[in-house]
Amino acid sequence: MRDRFVIGNWKLNGGLAANALLLDALSVGVVEKSGRSCGVCVPSPYLAQVQAALKDSFIGWGSQDVSRFESGAYTGDVSAGMVAEFGSRYALVGHSERRAIFGDTEDVVAGKFGLALRAVLTPILCVGESLPERESGKTEEVVWRQLQAVVVAHGVSGLSRAILAYEPVWAIGTGKTASPGQAEDVHAFLRGKVRALDKAIGDQLSILYGGSVKKSNAAELFGMPDIDGGLIGGASLVAEEFLGIWNAL
Ligand code: PGA
Repeated sequence: MRDRFVIGNWKLNGGLAANALLLDALSVGVVEKSGRSCGVCVPSPYLAQVQAALKDSFIGWGSQDVSRFESGAYTGDVSAGMVAEFGSRYALVGHSERRAIFGDTEDVVAGKFGLALRAVLTPILCVGESLPERESGKTEEVVWRQLQAVVVAHGVSGLSRAILAYEPVWAIGTGKTASPGQAEDVHAFLRGKVRALDKAIGDQLSILYGGSVKKSNAAELFGMPDIDGGLIGGASLVAEEFLGIWNAL
């Protein structure tokens, strides 16, 4: 049995007071289930708040990115080591917003992935195609290129300590979810590629789906054989939605 996850990605949202209310509701509402993990990836200034609020709960936490550097004259950056110091378990790397808006190339993403591993964080590597790429039949080529950059840099064994997230860019924050069949096709493709390199690692790799997951569509997505949970943006900011998604896992 593969590990299953529901991970929230708060993006650039939150505030001390709103976070406190949300974290309270989550620590009461997220009931532990074996083989399943819950987490929230928050803006880095809130890591201390989240650590204090969730330390006695079953929910893990982490960041939405890490620096491509370990330390030094890189004004504004936050390193994987710093994120780890706050008891974090996870770090997103290669989210499509980082790739598209902040210019993270495949090499940069691979570097961040390695630094997250070195800091003993679990990197959640995000891959996904844009709408024009899907419409021109390039989905598999794009997601494999994104994953392969990490495999080339860190070996397939690097994936044994990571989580993969398939997030079609056209489904993120748009309310347009990939159908369970569309998502499953890509998940099965990605798992097949990893299995071809190392069967055991491919079988064990948890692959989450992200893109407009809500409590109303979560169960259907999570019911697909190669979908091992979800990476949740907008709906992770609303306790009732996020708890509904957790309950569907
Ligand atoms: P969304 O975002 O759930 O708001 O579509 C998902 C993500 O970007 O991780």
